[in-house]
Amino acid sequence: MSADYSTQGDIAIISLNNPPVNGLGLSTRLGIVHALHQAMDDASIKAVVLTGQGKAFSGGADIKEFGTPKAVQDPNLLSVILAIENSPKPVVAAVHTVAMGGGLELALGCHYRIAAPGASIALPEVKIGLIPGAGGTQRLPRVLGVEPALNMIVSGEAIKSEMLASLPGQKLFDKMAASRETLLDEAVAYARSVADARPLPRVRDLPCKHPQGDAYFQFARNMVKGMSKNFPAPLKCVDAVQAGTKMAFDKGLLNERELFLSLLTTPECRALRHLFAAQRAASKIADVPDDTPVRTIASVAVIGAGTMGGGISMNFLNAGIPVRMLEMKQEALDRGVATIRKNYEAQVKKGKLTQEKYDQRMALLTTTLSYDDIRNADLVIEAVFEEMGVKEKVFQQLDKTMKPGAILASNTSTLDVNTIASFTQRPQDVVGMHFFSPANVMKLLEVVRGAKTAKDVLATVMALAKKIKKTAVVSGVCDGFIGNRMIEQYSRQAGFLLEEGCTPQQVDKAVEAFGFAMGPFRMGDLAGNDIGWAIRKRRYVEKPNLRYSKTADLLCEMGRYGQKTGAGWYDYQPGKRDAIPSAAVDTMIAQHRKTLGVTPRQISNDEIVQRLVFSLVNEAAHIIEEGIAAKASDVDMVYITGYGFPMHRGGPMLYADQFGLFNVVHTMRRFAQNPLDDANFWQPAPLLARLAAEGKTFNNVL
Ligand code: NAI
Repeated sequence: MSADYSTQGDIAIISLNNPPVNGLGLSTRLGIVHALHQAMDDASIKAVVLTGQGKAFSGGADIKEFGTPKAVQDPNLLSVILAIENSPKPVVAAVHTVAMGGGLELALGCHYRIAAPGASIALPEVKIGLIPGAGGTQRLPRVLGVEPALNMIVSGEAIKSEMLASLPGQKLFDKMAASRETLLDEAVAYARSVADARPLPRVRDLPCKHPQGDAYFQFARNMVKGMSKNFPAPLKCVDAVQAGTKMAFDKGLLNERELFLSLLTTPECRALRHLFAAQRAASKIADVPDDTPVRTIASVAVIGAGTMGGGISMNFLNAGIPVRMLEMKQEALDRGVATIRKNYEAQVKKGKLTQEKYDQRMALLTTTLSYDDIRNADLVIEAVFEEMGVKEKVFQQLDKTMKPGAILASNTSTLDVNTIASFTQRPQDVVGMHFFSPANVMKLLEVVRGAKTAKDVLATVMALAKKIKKTAVVSGVCDGFIGNRMIEQYSRQAGFLLEEGCTPQQVDKAVEAFGFAMGPFRMGDLAGNDIGWAIRKRRYVEKPNLRYSKTADLLCEMGRYGQKTGAGWYDYQPGKRDAIPSAAVDTMIAQHRKTLGVTPRQISNDEIVQRLVFSLVNEAAHIIEEGIAAKASDVDMVYITGYGFPMHRGGPMLYADQFGLFNVVHTMRRFAQNPLDDANFWQPAPLLARLAAEGKTFNNVL
């Protein structure tokens, strides 16, 4: 059982012991109840202190138990809390470091709470599509007031204990300890001081009202509705708290439970729980153990101060790591620094960055034209032109110059990282770090593992990614890595849809209604259609039999590169970004259809979405089978964090799982019969076909 029992004179101490964060799984719950009985049965014990060992008071429910019989097996969390609340001897929660979700609910069931400063306090259930399910929505408003409590419950954000303790009239903490170190002693002394006080205070007995009553909740509901598009849980938080202001405590508790259970099986909740687990899983690499030693990265050099070099540098400056940018010409360096400065200045103007921080970050940035000045950097990231010849020269130079043990990374988006590594005598130190544009904003980092990349290099880059707040996903070497290799099939399908009868706006609207941040054509206009054009010229010369629609090439031949030329798939007014349907583009597409002898047909939004999403899924199945991606959840992380795939759907692979892989394959077979589409395109990848035939899924859906 995962809770220890000890005594200090007449005070019993129950100490949760379930590393790393004292999750409230079955063995912890059993441990608490067991220890509580022991304290009750011992006549010499007058009061109890409940605390947690190690890194947390408690991080909350054990998410791995969700949906399994263990989660509801007695004693469940509600009954543990009830046992504490009904204890005839006072129970004092000694809270430190982390009290989240079920952990906070547990503390709220105690008669008194004492906290160490710096503890993170939260009810974060909304982040996995739920509401608190063990009294959080009923008890927190009683100790903090309805409004601050609802804000915490709806946002799921953590707030520091000292901040909460300073709220006027709060009853969450009866006392603040001087420090984490003195907490236990202070809690024991406090327990002794209240040992004989009766009646025992219970949070459930406190009033729960907002002075403006329902008018406040109406206001809150309107606010939350605007922010919680596609997610049901935030509004249910409002419902649960409001019900608490109207119902007797036990009824409110029951209502909370019903709302909690109704959310548990929604696709949105599944998606968020899946992504929560996927995020953690992405940082684990099967053959790189957690305890692999990492190299120290105290300074970074960036080669190339263009679009990507500048954005990449900002990530490290933000994390307090000095960066030196290297270019061929002083003008290029000046331009790069000016762009970084402009970016930070905009943040200062908006009040998102203090002047002091801005100065600190700029002070960490230096520039050079000479490789001698970067030789001692621990990590160098190359972001020069996308040409193998240029990369070759740079890596040969790096190999000659950099100190032994330095990590040599390339930000290439299409070139072979193994070839790049072969330009050096130290391929074990070479790795791909594929950032996404704008590199200071986008969360995704594809870490490209070359055939010879050393394990400690991978471990170092994964740890560093966390430090610069990126979601890192490991990809093997192939053209386009995980994300861009998949998007190529998606773009091909989008082209076929135009040829068959869709307008760009119809495709974009359908995909955006599905939840994508942006449809393929608006996205093309934003990124620049000429980039894809250049890639196609190279790629489709190499693969002459690969069918694709020429519409995008014809668009570029018209000079319509997108927003930067004021015209792309859409028209744009000067200085504005609103996409206006274009008659010229419609004419071009109609003309192209005529050349192909195609009579356009009406295509449903469902067909549009399925053709685009399943083209991602099928390519991903190839990618997984080839070992380029280690698991389906990695693909989902790539698409959620790098490509604007709707979060409430959990990524393309979870979407396919929930659609049913049998149904996916069946639908693809139907698409294959369309003479205007490409039958080869819809050939199910072997992995997909196999899983569908066996009734399995890509992900183990919780
Ligand atoms: P860019 O053209 O904006 O910047 C490249 C910079 O490298 C220029 O400032 C140039 O002066 C400098 N440069 C060229 N050769 C050099 C050399 N031998 N030594 C030092 N500096 C040199 O290009 P961008 O967009 O920043 O791309 C850079 C790399 O990042 C490419 O490999 C590209 O494929 C990759 N990438 C680009 C993304 C994008 O959306 N732009 C996304 C992800 C990766």
